[in-house]
Amino acid sequence: MEIGFTPRDSNFSKTADDFRMAFDQILREAISLSDGVVGPIFLDSGEVITPYTLKAEEASVFYTGVPINTELTKMEGNLSEGRPNDLNAMLVQRVSMLNHRVMDLVDELIRFKTRILSDITSCNMFTVNYPLLIDHILREAKLYHLLIQRLEEKEETDIEQEAFEQELFWNRIMAEHSLFIRGLLDPTENELIIAANNFGNEFNQLYEESKEAMDQTLPLSKVTRDSLKATVDISNFNAQGTQGILNCKVKSIIIPLLGDHVLRESNHYLRLLKTYAK
Ligand SMILES: [Fe+2]
Repeated sequence: MEIGFTPRDSNFSKTADDFRMAFDQILREAISLSDGVVGPIFLDSGEVITPYTLKAEEASVFYTGVPINTELTKMEGNLSEGRPNDLNAMLVQRVSMLNHRVMDLVDELIRFKTRILSDITSCNMFTVNYPLLIDHILREAKLYHLLIQRLEEKEETDIEQEAFEQELFWNRIMAEHSLFIRGLLDPTENELIIAANNFGNEFNQLYEESKEAMDQTLPLSKVTRDSLKATVDISNFNAQGTQGILNCKVKSIIIPLLGDHVLRESNHYLRLLKTYAK
């Protein structure tokens, strides 16, 4: 968001920059708490970092001048794996304290995004970000807050209920990513625009199917299976796209880190789907 405002709204860019730095601090602590505790399935999923993350960050710093902290990405690359039985009461306590700080900060971020979205949709603000993108990242912030809140309230959720919710959420997110990419590619990139459009349609269909699963008119296992297949494909598409942007082979107005970001989100969803498929 930081680089999407007009010069009139430089104070909004400044606020976005403050959020970036505050979340960097939280991330730094999350990384050090995770070292030797998180499992190999998570670390190898490609949702923490991908082979392109560091390059995408460096290229984005180069283009924008925003000093993205690449040191955190290097720390993530050096995380060592561990098992849950390495947990101890002290660690649980520290994670819980961090969770409460995250919830406060995410609450503030939700208010910031809500304000921007309402200014944009009432035509009181112009940004180079699509209104749907602001709405999209607002929903992501709200889900993040909800998941941490549930952890802290030690709420029991069964895996099937989680699968219903997450598939509904992420199929919509994947559809929207495809449509953002479609609209940010150079108009001459015909093949990629068509591919992105096809993914948009496929995931919109899966989003509808997730709703049907919730209404019990379609078996959840079918939606999970179809979503898994489509997410493998979109993850590959996102990887190729990010590579193409970094190698200066794809013409677009996609900032390199956005390419890598959607790749990491598809990898995250892929890990969830593999769990549900079991
Ligand atoms: Fe996203």
